[in-house]
Amino acid sequence: MNKKEMIIAPSVLAADFCNMAAAVKIIESTACEWIHLDIMDGKFVPAITFGHQMVKSIRGITDLTLDVHLMVDSPENQLDFFADAGADYITIHYESSTHLHRHIQRIGELGIKAGISIIPSTPVDAVKELLPYVDQVLVMTVNPGYGGQQLIPECVEKIRRLAEIRNGYDYKYLIAADGGVNRLTAPSVRKAGLDVAVSGSSFFGAENPAEEVLMLKGLI
Ligand code: DX5
Ligand code: ZN
Repeated sequence: MNKKEMIIAPSVLAADFCNMAAAVKIIESTACEWIHLDIMDGKFVPAITFGHQMVKSIRGITDLTLDVHLMVDSPENQLDFFADAGADYITIHYESSTHLHRHIQRIGELGIKAGISIIPSTPVDAVKELLPYVDQVLVMTVNPGYGGQQLIPECVEKIRRLAEIRNGYDYKYLIAADGGVNRLTAPSVRKAGLDVAVSGSSFFGAENPAEEVLMLKGLI
C-alpha cells in the first residue's frame, strides 16, 4: 500500500462556491483521483457548507471519486440522501454518533464505501472495533471546521499506527489525512504511510494546481 502513489483529494471547501463547475474542471485537469466534499451542519462544527443537492450536481459533471466527509451530528439521518446523490465514499465521525457500527453497516448496504474519521483529540484505539469494517480511516490533522489551518504534527503518528494495525490484521482500509497538508507537510504524512491526502487551500491557492499535485505526491 505504501509503495502506491498517494491519492490527492482536493476539498472544494477552498473553491469559489459560485463557480463549482469551474472548480471541478480544475481538479479534472490535474492528476487528482478524488474530490473531497466537506459537509458541515453548524452543530458538529460551527460553520455550514452545503448538502446533498450540491453533491448531486457535482456528480452530474464528473466521474471522479466523490469522497463525502460528514461533519454533522447524527450523520445516520443523512446517509440515504448522500447515497442517492452519488457519493462513492461516505465518512462519518467517531465523535458524532453512538451506534457507529450500525451506521457503517448501513453505508455498505447502500453500496457506498464507508469511512470513519477521528478528530485530533481522539486516539486510534477508539475506533479499533470498527477497523475490520471500514474502507477508509480519515485522520483529522487539524480540528475540523475550517480550511487553511496548520497541520498538528502529533496526528501524524496516528497514520503510522493505522498502517501498522492494517498490516497486522490484513485490513483493507485506506488511510487519509485531512487538514494542513501542503508541500511542506506532505513528506511527513507520505512517510507515515498515507494513502489519501485531502488538500484544500494548498490546491486551490496554488498558482499551478497540476504542479502542486505532483509536489504533494512527491513526484517532483
Ligand atoms: C476541515 C475540512 C478539510 C479542509 C482542508 O474541517 O475537513 O477538508 O477543507 O483544508 P486545508 O487543506 O486548507 O487544511
Ligand atoms: Zn474534510
